[in-house]
Amino acid sequence: MRPLYFDDGVLHLLDQRALPAEETWLRCTAVEEVAVAIETLAVRGAPAIGVAAAYGAALGADDLDAAIERLARTRPTAVNLHHALERVRAAGPERALETARALEEREVAATELIGRHGGELVNGRVITHCNAGSLACMGVGTALGVIRAGDVDHVWVPETRPLLQGARLTAYELAQDGIAHEVVTDSSSGHLMASDLVDAAVVGADRIAANGDVANKIGTYTLAVLAHRHGVPFYVAAPTSTIDPTARTGDDIPIEERSATELDAPRARNWAFDVTPHELVTAIITEQGVVRPPYAF
Ligand code: MRU
Repeated sequence: MRPLYFDDGVLHLLDQRALPAEETWLRCTAVEEVAVAIETLAVRGAPAIGVAAAYGAALGADDLDAAIERLARTRPTAVNLHHALERVRAAGPERALETARALEEREVAATELIGRHGGELVNGRVITHCNAGSLACMGVGTALGVIRAGDVDHVWVPETRPLLQGARLTAYELAQDGIAHEVVTDSSSGHLMASDLVDAAVVGADRIAANGDVANKIGTYTLAVLAHRHGVPFYVAAPTSTIDPTARTGDDIPIEERSATELDAPRARNWAFDVTPHELVTAIITEQGVVRPPYAF
């Protein structure tokens, strides 16, 4: 399962808004189309939006600075997007496309290694959050790469309100792989842990600060606090492209607030991410190996 591919001047994006009901592919030939696809979550997940943005910039190579400026405004939290765009800027218009291809290959390879390093850490009944699988990262995914490689009996899949990346996308990926899983409401995690039904938690990340604070889908912090309370190890799986050493702590990470129209309520706020403080993170699994506290990136 792959979220995108580039062929003959066209960026093809699997429209994740329609999954799992429909498998629809968007054809993007212009920067604006890619930018809107990222903003509206047709393509989503930190590594995937980094690669999509890099291809988007390559589509706008005649005015690379303008293309990068537009794509950089799409989503603020996932640092992969900004890292990928800076790589394309440094490569220049002539080498934009080959740089995007190299970034894609690098992200796919990273997930394999993350799975290999992290698979030994998780077994039994595992809880994740959102979707950090093939659809978000390409390859085998980060958190799902670890789950796929581990000796996992069962995966608890929180719905991930309001856009249901867990219920729609993670459940879809696990079903395709024949991995036992059940979807639960986001607020079930405390009950599951108190009932001794969770052996480990593993999630992805959108940005990791120098001190190990982790920004990820809203609700990750809640899961980490509960894991700490119940003595459940809490792992973060992410490629090094998700680490932002210029963010000293989580306070330096911009948190996306999306339109309240995504919630079914007349008065609402809709933060898309939260920050989990490093002291709640048992280990960070990257393609370079497993990093344990004290974190210093
Ligand atoms: O809003 P989304 O769906 O882009 O959020 C995605 C997540 O929070 C993922 O957990 C994160 O990007 C890690 S994917 C490797």
